[in-house]
Amino acid sequence: MTQKIIFDTDPGIDDAMALLFIQASPALDLLAITTIFGNADIETTTRNALYLKQRFGLTAPVFKGTDKPLSRPRNPSPTFVHGENGLGDVELTGLVPAQPEAKPAYQAIIDIARQHPGEVTLVAVGPLTNLALALKADPEVAALLKGVVIMGGAFGVAGKPGNVTPVAEANIWNDPEAADLVFTAPWALTAVSLDVTTQVVMSPAYMDALEASAGPAGAFLNAISKPYAAFYGSRDGVSGCCVHDAAAVAFVIAPSLFEVRRGSVRVVTEGITLGQTCQKAEGELFGPSAWDDQPIQAVTVAVDEAGLLKLYAETMRA
Ligand code: BDR
Ligand code: CA
Repeated sequence: MTQKIIFDTDPGIDDAMALLFIQASPALDLLAITTIFGNADIETTTRNALYLKQRFGLTAPVFKGTDKPLSRPRNPSPTFVHGENGLGDVELTGLVPAQPEAKPAYQAIIDIARQHPGEVTLVAVGPLTNLALALKADPEVAALLKGVVIMGGAFGVAGKPGNVTPVAEANIWNDPEAADLVFTAPWALTAVSLDVTTQVVMSPAYMDALEASAGPAGAFLNAISKPYAAFYGSRDGVSGCCVHDAAAVAFVIAPSLFEVRRGSVRVVTEGITLGQTCQKAEGELFGPSAWDDQPIQAVTVAVDEAGLLKLYAETMRA
């Protein structure tokens, strides 16, 4: 049976890798793409979503998200990671100007959740502002979704504890207030965190093989991955691309590839550790704290790297 999903995204090189993975997967039924600022401004990420839809024949409608965090100015776009155009500055050939749907992203999330109560998984791989706006506008949305899977956070279990500061992951750091609302909402959330996404690397040889086996999508992804891999090589000494956003999609398709730890999660919203995600694991005993009486959420602590890379390649080949 296919799983209905909404994909909330800031394309973004690894977002494009995730979106084309969704498109190729027979296990997923993509109902909508909702965009968010993050890897670029909202005009650019929305244009990129529309471009990917046109070029690769996606049928899901695109809804434009908000252009700024809930309560602070937007951080500068990371052009040194994703390029000026958000897609590695690869030329976007044959671009036909198109418009997103009229409805804002947060309203689309609410309406789709209400149309299919208990059936839709919201996969969010950018800053969490659209999700927070949906919760504020209609708190019942939390009970109407089947679940939420995000790419975000870092829990100090493995890999890197942060990628924009020593303790903060980009999607959370880009709107920490929204992230704290999302982690403490009464829905079943899994955070696919840096602890696992930095453990899964697509090497240049893997990307070349993808180009050879996955048709035009493989060739496009290999092209846009090159500046991304160059960034990871120069900054982190990684030989290839860390698989961030596609790992969240893989969690929806094959959760058995991951180990999770359950517990309540809070996000630091001020000070030098802004954007840090901290979990109080279930069963740990402390005195009274800000983690008490909060929903229990899952965070990923281990991943089967070979299994995830195989799932991605086989899905794209099909
Ligand atoms: C996350 O931040 C963005 O740059 C990527 O697209 C990914 O969603 C990784 O920290
Ligand atoms: Ca992203």
